[in-house]
Amino acid sequence: MSVRLLLLLVFSLEVFRCELSKEKAGSAINAAKTLVWGPGLEADIVLPARFFYIQTVDSSGERLTTSPGEKTFEVKIVSPTEQFTRIWIQVLDRRDGSFLVRYRMYATYTDLHIHVLLKGKHVAKSPYILKGPVYHEGCDCPQPSGSVWEKNMHCPESFAQITRDLSLHPSVDPDQNAQEIPKRFGQRQSLCHYTIKENKVYVKTFGEHVGFRIFMDAILLSLTRKVRIPDVEFFVNLGDWPLEKRKPTDKLHPIFSWCGSNNTRDIVMPTYDLTESVLETMGRVSLDMMSVQANTGPPWPEKNATAFWRGRDSRQERLQLVKLSRAHPDFIDAAFTNFFFFKHDESLYGPLVKHVSFFDFFKYKYQINIDGTVAAYRLPYLLAGDSVVLKQDSGYYEHFYNELRPWEHYIPIKANLGDLLEKIQWARDHDEEARKIALAGQQLARSHLMGDSIFCYYYKLFKEYARLQITEPKVRKGMELVEQPTDDLFPCSCDRRMEKDEL
Ligand SMILES: *[C@@H]1O[C@H](CO)[C@@H](O)[C@H](O)[C@H]1NC(C)=O
Ligand SMILES: *[C@@H]1O[C@H](CO)[C@@H](O)[C@H](O)[C@H]1NC(C)=O
Repeated sequence: MSVRLLLLLVFSLEVFRCELSKEKAGSAINAAKTLVWGPGLEADIVLPARFFYIQTVDSSGERLTTSPGEKTFEVKIVSPTEQFTRIWIQVLDRRDGSFLVRYRMYATYTDLHIHVLLKGKHVAKSPYILKGPVYHEGCDCPQPSGSVWEKNMHCPESFAQITRDLSLHPSVDPDQNAQEIPKRFGQRQSLCHYTIKENKVYVKTFGEHVGFRIFMDAILLSLTRKVRIPDVEFFVNLGDWPLEKRKPTDKLHPIFSWCGSNNTRDIVMPTYDLTESVLETMGRVSLDMMSVQANTGPPWPEKNATAFWRGRDSRQERLQLVKLSRAHPDFIDAAFTNFFFFKHDESLYGPLVKHVSFFDFFKYKYQINIDGTVAAYRLPYLLAGDSVVLKQDSGYYEHFYNELRPWEHYIPIKANLGDLLEKIQWARDHDEEARKIALAGQQLARSHLMGDSIFCYYYKLFKEYARLQITEPKVRKGMELVEQPTDDLFPCSCDRRMEKDEL
């Protein structure tokens, strides 16, 4: 038999097998009762990658809790007025009976028809018709009314962290801050001074290390393409550590930072890492809050009951963790993939190990989250998996930690790791409870840390902050315009009018 014929035969067998498993899965699912929902079914929710969910339901109305097969559903998106639609679609199997569908549009369409099909038949209320224009991420077409945009996006009324951060600033004076903040922080730090005026972004940088500015520029440009932001002037700290160390009773300077701490008073934003992963979903980054949901490893009972950690040596406690792992390999598998901050003593900390794909972390039940330079920015992704997180108590926090409760979303461990072994033992002895905590953490990540929430957070922050200004925000001397990218292959024609009742 020729190789080609053999390959053909193998291939046909594969197809046959797929069809069989599809058949089996399909028969358990009720297409009409299956649930489909999410922001990606609404024309007005413009995101870099739009997304919606499918929850499989059987004919008795029960939700499936295991995967009916990765290829169960087919999703097609077409625009009736276009011959070709330039849309990249992925159906991600979350293996818990639900699917996450995401798509990235490279052009703007007048109408979109989203077909969700089970063995060629429409599911739930499919086809979903999005009356356009349905704008793509690159389209510079801000909604003129912020309140309409917030309503369209279903943004929450408030974010507790924003309320808390801004409560320290009864008012802010852009004129005064423009004088004082560069004097106080401009020399040593990497600082950016931004003004948004008439929805255009202007910036002046201070300090040598301002490369991370790209993340802030990118989110501001993306946001101003979607919604008109009130005129606002503010300072962003591009460094790791929060800066404002004064007591609340002293005069505080408002500084926006990616990380907050118990000893500082900076205003926190989503981390640059999470921000970039939202902007670059289905683009440059491979680890984002959606891809992680499709890569959570084996089901809970099959996960390895060793606690897992990989990373670099950016803090003393990390050295301790690896030492602890070497003393108790039956409890902890922790190793360094990189040495940078401390002198590498191989006799104490073992050889460097090869980098492990983040998705492989979820072969293990217990994930250790331990501070690096500041908060470990991997926490959103760890929570989104279906392992349970053991989180070190820490003075550092991100924009969403306010929503996290110990024993509900994660298992707390002491800052000095003194009770880590004990807590792992607890989790082993209370498997059901540990699993419940894992799922609650996952739920929090799924509902609070997706792209729509991140855009809402940024918008709300700038809006609330803008309200506190007692002098007019200005484009200051030395500021440059941050231009919208012009290399978009498919320009859009923006068609938004201010409705009378929105003024
Ligand atoms: C669980 O993981 C540990 C550490 O990585 C490893 O030594 C052990 O062999 C694994 N156990 C099983 C059952 O795979
Ligand atoms: C930081 O503050 C939080 C909230 O008040 C607290 O739970 C935590 O123990 C503090 N951690 C450290 C290390 O100071």
